[in-house]
Amino acid sequence: MNLDEILKDAEREFAATGSLPILDQVKARYLGKSGAITAQMKSLGALPVEERKAAGARINQVKDQVEALLRERRDAIQAAELERQLAAESLDVTLPGRGDAVASLHPVTRTLARIEALFSSIGFEVADGPEIETDFYNFTALNIPENHPARAMHDTFYLEGGNLLRTHTSPVQVRYMQNVMKLAGQSQEFHGPTGGGALPPIRIIAPGRVYRCDSDVTHTPMFHQVEGLWVDESISFADLKGILADFMARFFERDNLPVRFRPSFFPFTEPSAEMDIGCVICEGAGCRVCSHTGWLEVLGCGMVHPNVFGHVGIDAERYQGFAFGLGVERLAMLRYGVDDLRLFFENDVRFLKQFA
Ligand code: DAH
Repeated sequence: MNLDEILKDAEREFAATGSLPILDQVKARYLGKSGAITAQMKSLGALPVEERKAAGARINQVKDQVEALLRERRDAIQAAELERQLAAESLDVTLPGRGDAVASLHPVTRTLARIEALFSSIGFEVADGPEIETDFYNFTALNIPENHPARAMHDTFYLEGGNLLRTHTSPVQVRYMQNVMKLAGQSQEFHGPTGGGALPPIRIIAPGRVYRCDSDVTHTPMFHQVEGLWVDESISFADLKGILADFMARFFERDNLPVRFRPSFFPFTEPSAEMDIGCVICEGAGCRVCSHTGWLEVLGCGMVHPNVFGHVGIDAERYQGFAFGLGVERLAMLRYGVDDLRLFFENDVRFLKQFA
């Protein structure tokens, strides 16, 4: 076969080929081990020496042309395949979506927001502090003695180096009062012309995570508290009662929510009390949730202990304050009628969906 025919055949055959695997087969017929061009090469040996050079050059030229045709065809097939693929896989972005699920806030987040909104409405600022605390802020400054059970290894998560995961939000009280004292110390007004101006009132809540080495049906190692603190020149236990009774009535949307304060003990308050509200599940008749007492314990509170003021340099003769600490999950359970604390942390969408 002469070279011109080979070239023409190749051109025709390539053009008739529509897929890459077949193109490879066709290619083998020309450039493969027993292909037409290869055969031409092999036949060179039979030619007289003086003709070999010219014939060889001619074969190589045709070989180059065949290879160029092959490349061209390969590119064309690839482009066509891509075209086809793009057309087949195109997305219709105008189709309506399949899911219509709406995300929602976690019930604990909602409860925190509700607590913050209610306290903000009566002038409380929201303060925060670190979850990794020092022994000083978590215990010592709060007048918690060396041998107090809350300091025990099995009650608190200690970190290497002596710090710990805060066991309550009360340390924020100390940090906040220290900051106020620092700023007041720098202020002209505080020094005053006679050197004894008044501190600004301190009125904060401090929401956040707290940690205890505790895990059973009613305890999780992490939970949320909201701390409260109001310090001024004439704050009394009556203010504490009024603010907290009003807060609970608004939180539970009950106009005449019964409340009572039972004497209790906390190292950082004196006197201290436990606040109960009339059971919001049975309205006081007695049920499982209130252990048939008609009352629910909702928080701890009291008047700031002079030793706590002493640690931050506030004059306990001149200033008084009340403080309280409440558990957020507890309030969320009562408000939403949730009977198992663990549900809050299991991430079961069937549970969470109910708050959407
Ligand atoms: N820190 C206490 C706790 O976690 C709660 C508490 C009780 C906070 C009385 C207070 C308070 O501020 O006055 O158990």
